Amino acid sequence: MIVWAALLMSHCCLGLNGAAEENSGLERIEKCGTRCSQGLDCKTKPDNWFPPPCQDPAEGLNPSSVFHNISLSTVLSCEGRQKCSLRLRIKTTLQLTKSIHGVSICTATAGMMVNCQMFTFKRASRKRMSGKQVIVENDCTDISPSQYVQVTVKTVPNYCDVTWKGTYDAPECTNEDLRNNVPECITGRISYDVNPERKELSVTVSNMLEDHDYHLRLCHKDFICVGTGANTLIKKGEPVKNATLPYSRPLPCLCIEGWSTVMDAPRVQVCPFKDRLEDLWSGINFDPLEETLSWKPVCPVTAVVVLCQKREDGVCVDLPHAYQNVSREKISFSKVDPHPQLCMKFTAGSQSWIRCPFVNARFQAWEMIVTRQQGQEDIEMLSQITATFSVGLCAKSEASTVCDTHTMHVTKHKAVGLNLTGELCNSCLQVKRLDVKFSATVIHCLEQSNQSSLPRAVLSSRASWDLSWVVVPAGVCLSGIIINTLLLHVLLTVYQRKKQKRNGGCISEKQTDPDCVVPVLQTQPVLHGGVLIPDSPQCGNTEKANLISD
Ligand SMILES: *[C@@H]1O[C@H](CO)[C@@H](O)[C@H](O)[C@H]1NC(C)=O
Ligand SMILES: *[C@@H]1O[C@H](CO)[C@@H](O)[C@H](O)[C@H]1NC(C)=O
Ligand SMILES: *[C@@H]1O[C@H](CO)[C@@H](O)[C@H](O)[C@H]1NC(C)=O
Ligand SMILES: *[C@@H]1O[C@H](CO)[C@@H](O)[C@H](O)[C@H]1NC(C)=O
Ligand SMILES: *[C@@H]1O[C@H](CO)[C@@H](O)[C@H](O)[C@H]1NC(C)=O
Repeated sequence: MIVWAALLMSHCCLGLNGAAEENSGLERIEKCGTRCSQGLDCKTKPDNWFPPPCQDPAEGLNPSSVFHNISLSTVLSCEGRQKCSLRLRIKTTLQLTKSIHGVSICTATAGMMVNCQMFTFKRASRKRMSGKQVIVENDCTDISPSQYVQVTVKTVPNYCDVTWKGTYDAPECTNEDLRNNVPECITGRISYDVNPERKELSVTVSNMLEDHDYHLRLCHKDFICVGTGANTLIKKGEPVKNATLPYSRPLPCLCIEGWSTVMDAPRVQVCPFKDRLEDLWSGINFDPLEETLSWKPVCPVTAVVVLCQKREDGVCVDLPHAYQNVSREKISFSKVDPHPQLCMKFTAGSQSWIRCPFVNARFQAWEMIVTRQQGQEDIEMLSQITATFSVGLCAKSEASTVCDTHTMHVTKHKAVGLNLTGELCNSCLQVKRLDVKFSATVIHCLEQSNQSSLPRAVLSSRASWDLSWVVVPAGVCLSGIIINTLLLHVLLTVYQRKKQKRNGGCISEKQTDPDCVVPVLQTQPVLHGGVLIPDSPQCGNTEKANLISD
């Protein structure tokens, strides 16, 4: 059994984000009150929020130098265990002059009445302290956790332009002191053990609100936490505050939620599997009629999904224009060729996961069938659906790769042979479905030939092409033969020039572009070898070629 440390997470109802987390203990007071500098005799009384209109500052009063420093802080007023409340302490440092008889302080919070207090200085002490810096401190303003407070300090009498305004954010319930002592922040603390075999969470609660029962449940967290089953009640009298909660899947958004049986009780949520993102990348759907690949996250997650083509070394090469962002909505890719090599790559943070929904070939729509007869490979295209393919025969030489690509229509359940003749050494077939938006490019490298005939490969389709074309001889095959094929070379050069024109300079570019090189062919003849490269309609593909052989 894996034992997890007791954790405390976010607090659902107060929207805590921990940003203003303060761990220090707050100052305790037993009774709130007003304190003034020694020698200053001050009196506190409620004040009117609508003060009389302001007066021009008295002679000799510099409005900007009256208030030196006004500080706002929180103290805890406690009447016993778990019975503390928050008070705002306002400490005003001012330069006393004979025209200042006191200060008026107003606090305003959202949705509450404005509360004002007046602190007046008795005449005798005022005269005595005139010209000195004095302090007036009061901590009787009730505030709530994470409350936003506006504070206005004026003089008495109310002199124009002698006003200080400030704002204050009360500490949040994430503050340890508040969580343990302020009833509206007391959630209880949840610790748990996971029993993965029995799919159970053994939960123990501590530091809960005394004299109250306690609820526990499992929920799936999204905007709110949606319960997955019944609540468990822990009675206040029970000596061991524990419960066993069964779960079905260890999802990152599965949380244990606990709260006391009081109105609007704050809740605590602990999510034992929050790092188990790999459990999210399941439930991928494919609709074979619509050819739509879809997936919906069972938990909200920030991730990027891309379709990719998996190479034999496990690297999955992204298909172009196949990225989608995920948060909580279903994502779908339409017109996808359900090829076993076509996969989905999920990236969250710095980690990636690859899932290949078609790997069992259940939905596979087409295949290349390779048979051997008298040392010759016979290749047929067979499709379960009527589809269009791009079929390219690519020949690699030391410096470059030259492909010639044709479009080929295949009727369903009707095998179409590719008529490959001649010298095919160092040639590979690149086949890709064209009638879909996302498809894998399957590469099949032809067996190296022993015959020292003309270094040419002729490919024609019995069904839809009557074209045959010449592929540039590969360097390996060339040695010793070139002299005999001078005439052919002349022909080839003419052909290449023509082709270059047609492809807008593709070939010449190719000869210097290493990315265009089809990967090295196997030295051993491979009967059912397949090499994959990403989408490469013509040889002018700038993406890195990727090799697979099986
Ligand atoms: C203002 O008063 C507070 C609390 O007494 C103190 O921490 C702070 O340094 C003072 N600021 C100035 C500018 O004097
Ligand atoms: C609670 O804890 C006690 C003592 O550890 C244990 O005997 C009991 O089975 C637990 N109850 C639940 C419901 O897990
Ligand atoms: C995904 O999100 C990023 C960042 O928010 C954005 O730049 C990008 O364009 C989005 N991509 C798609 C495919 O929506
Ligand atoms: C090439 O010829 C050698 C010897 O003649 C033979 O062993 C080998 O299998 C042949 N390779 C192919 C691909 O036919
Ligand atoms: C296939 O190629 C061979 C040899 O080049 C040729 O004789 C034959 O006519 C071709 N078949 C078709 C259907 O094109």
